[in-house]
Amino acid sequence: MFYKNFILALVSIGLFASCSTTKDPIEEKVEKLLSRMTLEEKIGQMNQLNSEGAFDDLHERIKRGEVGSVLNEVDPKTLNELQKIAVEETRLGIPILFARDIIHGYKTIFPIPLGQAASWNPKLVEEAGRITAIEATSVGIRWTFAPMIDVSCDSRWGRIAESMGEDPFLSGTMGAAMIKGLQGNDLSDPTSLAACAKHFVGYGATEGGRDYNTTHISNEQLRNTYLVPFKAAVDAGCATFMTSFNEINGVPCSGNPFLTKDILRKEWGFDGVLVSDWSSITEMIIHGYCKDSLEATEKGINAGIDMDMMGEAYISGLKKLIEDGKIKESSVDDAVRNILRLKFRLGLFDNPYININRSSPFYEKAFLEKAKKIAAQSVVLLKNENSVLPLTESVKSIAVIGPLADAAHDQMGTWVFDGEKEHSVTPMQALKDRYGDKVKINYVKTLTHSRDANKSGFGDALAAAKASDVILFFAGEESILSGEARCRADISLPGVQSELLSELKKAGKPIVMIIMAGRPVEIYKELPLVNGLLYAWHPGTMGGLAIAELLFGDIVPSGKLPITYPAMVGQIPIYYNHKNTGRPPLDDSPRINDISPEAPQMSLGNRSYYLDAGDKPLFPFGYGLSYTTFEYKNLKISKSEIGKTEFLTVSCTVTNTGKIKATEVVQLYIRDMYASITRPVKELKDFSRICLDAGETKEVSFTLSPEQLSFWNNDNQFVLEPGDFKVWIATNSADGLEGEFKVIS
Ligand code: GLC
Repeated sequence: MFYKNFILALVSIGLFASCSTTKDPIEEKVEKLLSRMTLEEKIGQMNQLNSEGAFDDLHERIKRGEVGSVLNEVDPKTLNELQKIAVEETRLGIPILFARDIIHGYKTIFPIPLGQAASWNPKLVEEAGRITAIEATSVGIRWTFAPMIDVSCDSRWGRIAESMGEDPFLSGTMGAAMIKGLQGNDLSDPTSLAACAKHFVGYGATEGGRDYNTTHISNEQLRNTYLVPFKAAVDAGCATFMTSFNEINGVPCSGNPFLTKDILRKEWGFDGVLVSDWSSITEMIIHGYCKDSLEATEKGINAGIDMDMMGEAYISGLKKLIEDGKIKESSVDDAVRNILRLKFRLGLFDNPYININRSSPFYEKAFLEKAKKIAAQSVVLLKNENSVLPLTESVKSIAVIGPLADAAHDQMGTWVFDGEKEHSVTPMQALKDRYGDKVKINYVKTLTHSRDANKSGFGDALAAAKASDVILFFAGEESILSGEARCRADISLPGVQSELLSELKKAGKPIVMIIMAGRPVEIYKELPLVNGLLYAWHPGTMGGLAIAELLFGDIVPSGKLPITYPAMVGQIPIYYNHKNTGRPPLDDSPRINDISPEAPQMSLGNRSYYLDAGDKPLFPFGYGLSYTTFEYKNLKISKSEIGKTEFLTVSCTVTNTGKIKATEVVQLYIRDMYASITRPVKELKDFSRICLDAGETKEVSFTLSPEQLSFWNNDNQFVLEPGDFKVWIATNSADGLEGEFKVIS
C-alpha cells in the first residue's frame, strides 16, 4: 500500500510540477522567436512608419526588417503586398501590424466621443465600437488609436471633441466600453481591433487649452483625476497604450518612467504595447528635455516605450546606445516581447493576410440604425421653453436655416478619414424625407459654412422665417474647427451666425437652435433669443435623422452633458467636481452692475466668483432635459454610519410625471466633507439609465463601496478616512436628493 501511495505521490508532484511550469503558449512562442532574433530585427519591430507616401522606400525598409507596424494603409491589396514582403521575404517572417486612427467609426461614423459620452450609455458605445472594428478589420486594420480618455473640461482645447469629458468615472466607464467593443471577446478573432488608451497621461490639462502645451499636475490630481480612466482601460484589457505629447511638471510623458513603468507596468500590471505618439520621443529634444536624438532614444526606452511612432529614433539610435553601454539589450528584449505578444494574441502569425474577396460590411443597415440610435441618445436637450419641442401637429411649416442644416461632411466631426459624406443623412434631408409630407419646409442655408461672414442671404432667411410657424436654426462649427491642434480662444459661434439669429428673431416666431460642434460653444448671448436648444455635438453619419426624429418627438431626448457648459470662455476652467475653497461663492454676491460708482474698496463680496460671469456655468455637468418630467423622492440610505469596510446602499424613487415614455439618466454623487486633503464638492460615483412609462415609478438603488469613498492623498496612499459624507441621487450635478452618512473608524 505504501508503495502505491508513494507512486501516486510522485505522479501528483510530477503533474503539479508540469502544471506549475505550463506557460501560456503565446509566451513560449514569444520567447522562442525572440531568441532567434538579431538585434537589428528586434529594433525593426520597434519602428512604426506611415504608409501615406511618406516612405516610397517602404517596401525596401520592410524587406530589411526595419518596420514592425505601418500606419494608415487602408487598401487591402496594398496591405497584403506589404505584408507579403514582411512574411515571405524577411528572415523570420514576422507580420506587420497595421494601424489607423479610427476614433468614432470607420465608414459608419458615430458621434464624436464627447457626444457618445453624452449618451451615458456604455452598452451603446460598446456596440458602436464593435461595428467600428468589423468595418475596419475588413480592410486589414488590426490596431486603432482609441479610446482617447484624457479628462478635460477645457472647451478651448480642440481635442475635447475626442474626449469623454470632464469626469474621471464617466470617462473610464465609456472608455472601457469602447475598448470592449473594439477588441471583442478574443483578440485573435479576425474582427478584433486592438484598442489604444491615449494619451497617457494628463494631456487634457494642457495650459490655456492650447494643444501640446505644458501641464502642471499635482500627484493628487494625477491619481484622483487623470489616471482614473486609464486604470479602467487596463482593467478592461486594453491591448495598447500611447504616451502623450505633453510634459508634466517638467518631464515629457514619453520619457517618464514613473508613469509608464512604475504605475502602468509595475503597479497596474499592464503587459501590452506602449507606443509613443507621433514623433513624441524625438520631440523631447524640442521640449528641452534631451540634448539630441540619442538621448531622446535612451529616455524613451528607459521609460518603457515599446514602439516609436514615426520618430525614427529607435531605428537610428538603439544599437549605438547598446554598443556604448548606455542601455542593455534586455530593454530592447522587453519591448520586442510586448510587441510579439500582441501580434501573437491578434493571431497575425496564423492569419497575416486580409481576404480581399471578403464582402465589405460597410454601412450595413443594422450599423446605420445603431449609428442613428447612439446619435439620438447623444443629443442633449438644453432648453425647451413653453414646450416648443417636440413639434406638434399644429406646426404646419418650418423654416430651416443655417450652415449646419445640410452639412454632410461637417456633421461627421473630427478625426474622420474613411467616412464618406455621401452616406451622411443631414437634418435637411431627413426633415424633407421623413416629415416633408407633414410640414412645409422653407429652407435657406444663408451661410455656406460656419465661418461665413457674408450676410447677403439674411433677407431671404428672414422671409422664410416670417413665412413659417417655427424656425429651426442649425448653427455650430465646421468639423475642422475641433480636433487635434484646433484650439480656439474665442469659442463663440464662428462667422456671423449670431447676427443671423438676431435677424431671425425679428420674425417673431418660436426659434429652436440645433448646434453641431466639437465642443460647448459660448452662447450666453444667443440662449435668451431661442425657445428651444438641442445640442448635437457632431453626430455622425445618421445624425440628421436622429435630430429630425427628436424634433418631431419620435424619439425623446435623454442625453446629459459630459462636460460643464461654460457661460463665458473666461470662466474656463470650470467644472463640477471642483474644490470648495475657503470662500465659496454666495448666490447674493454682488455682480458688476450692482456696484455703485466710486464704491468703497471693501464693499464687495470677497468670494470666489467673477463680477461679470458669476460662478455658475450656463449648464451643469450631467444636465439634460426630456420631453417629460421626472420626480425624485424617498431618498433612503441603508445606514447612517458605516465602518471602513462596509458597503452602503442608497436609493430613491423616480416617477415619470409627464405624458410620454422616456429615459432618465439617474446619477449618484458623493462629497467627503473634510479629509487630510480637500476633496471635491461633488464626485460622480455611479449612474443608471432608466426607462419609465408615463406615470410610472421605479426605485433606483446604488451601492457605494469603501473603494468608491476612498481617495489618493499627498503621500501617494489610497485611503478611506472616517468622517462626514454627503450623498445625492440626482438628475444632474447641480440638483438632486441630498442625504448624509458617516464613516467611522
Ligand atoms: C496624432 C495624435 C494621436 C494619433 C497619432 C497617430 O498626433 O496625437 O492621437 O493617434 O498622432 O495619428
